Amino acid sequence: MSFLEVNNLNVEFNTADGIVRAVNNVNFSLEEGKILAIVGESGSGKSQTVFAMMGLLDQNGRATGSVKFEDQEILNLSISELNLIRSEKIAMIFQDPMTSLNPYMKISEQMAEVLIHHKGLSKTDAINQSISMLDAVQIPEAKNLIRMYPHEFSGGMRQRVMIAMSLLCNPKLLIADEPTTALDVTVQAQIMHLLSDIQKEFGTSIILITHDLGVVAGNSDDTLVMYGGQVMEIAETELIYARPTHPYTQGLISAVPRLDDNAEKLKTIQGNPPDAMLDPVGCPFSPRCKFSKDICSNQTPELLEAGENKHFRACHVAFEELL
Ligand SMILES: Nc1ncnc2c1ncn2[C@@H]1O[C@H](COP(=O)(O)OP(=O)(O)OP(=O)(O)O)[C@@H](O)[C@H]1O
Ligand SMILES: [Mg+2]
Repeated sequence: MSFLEVNNLNVEFNTADGIVRAVNNVNFSLEEGKILAIVGESGSGKSQTVFAMMGLLDQNGRATGSVKFEDQEILNLSISELNLIRSEKIAMIFQDPMTSLNPYMKISEQMAEVLIHHKGLSKTDAINQSISMLDAVQIPEAKNLIRMYPHEFSGGMRQRVMIAMSLLCNPKLLIADEPTTALDVTVQAQIMHLLSDIQKEFGTSIILITHDLGVVAGNSDDTLVMYGGQVMEIAETELIYARPTHPYTQGLISAVPRLDDNAEKLKTIQGNPPDAMLDPVGCPFSPRCKFSKDICSNQTPELLEAGENKHFRACHVAFEELL
């Protein structure tokens, strides 16, 4: 049985100005117990990819293709079918925990409610289990702090509460959409470690979305690089770092600050992201790519295996030319 298979996923939005093609022909799979990072600049289609999977697209959005979770098609299910899958099988955490936490309810009530509703626990059992989960995400003195309101927690602590809450029903897949963007660098690193600890302790598979390639090293098994709604490259995270085969990935990596670099040398990728209103012809990165040739602007490159180890890239330029 395959755990998660995404095939030819497309997301379009109807707008007054025309159709916005946010996600184009995205393919990837995830093995149970692994962490997949989805990386790309703002607007590259990361969130809409997972929103489509979870039935969370805006009203004007439409998804086509296939998303199979444990061999069951979950794309475009009805709300009642999706509700069975959401939280009990697939849970999602967002960038800003305050969008999911109720500011007027104590953490204890919000967490207990989930267990009472989904698992039919008594209130006492639900609160005890919630305290254990807060312990698991390393909230100190969880027994006392559970009586507090969300605003009494720091940003990092609130994100930990969110993670604890999403794990209450023991989901098989946790999707974290930029869970650390609003946090400072040290807290970001702590939350990333926490997610990989959770993967180890509970065996939860994780999709981790970020625009910062720097945070995925050491915290994910595989990395999918997205640009202009398309997959540019996908491989084991170590390979992506050691041997990036796509000019866009190479650009992202040279933009990651390194301790042995000085800040002045930090490179950025020249140019602007593509216009999602235009028909996707050719490689979306070609206008910004220094290796671009005629074919790059006329023909969309297919995602093909580059060498061994399930390393895939979508690029017309031979790898040797990129060195
Ligand atoms: N309701 C909508 N109507 C029209 N376009 C939309 C809608 N929602 C999203 N989009 C567009 O879809 C594209 C992809 O957006 P998406 O949210 O997936 O980006 P992202 O990679 O998650 O970026 P970020 O890092 O900023 O979160 C963007 O061009 C965005 O403007
Ligand atoms: Mg996003």
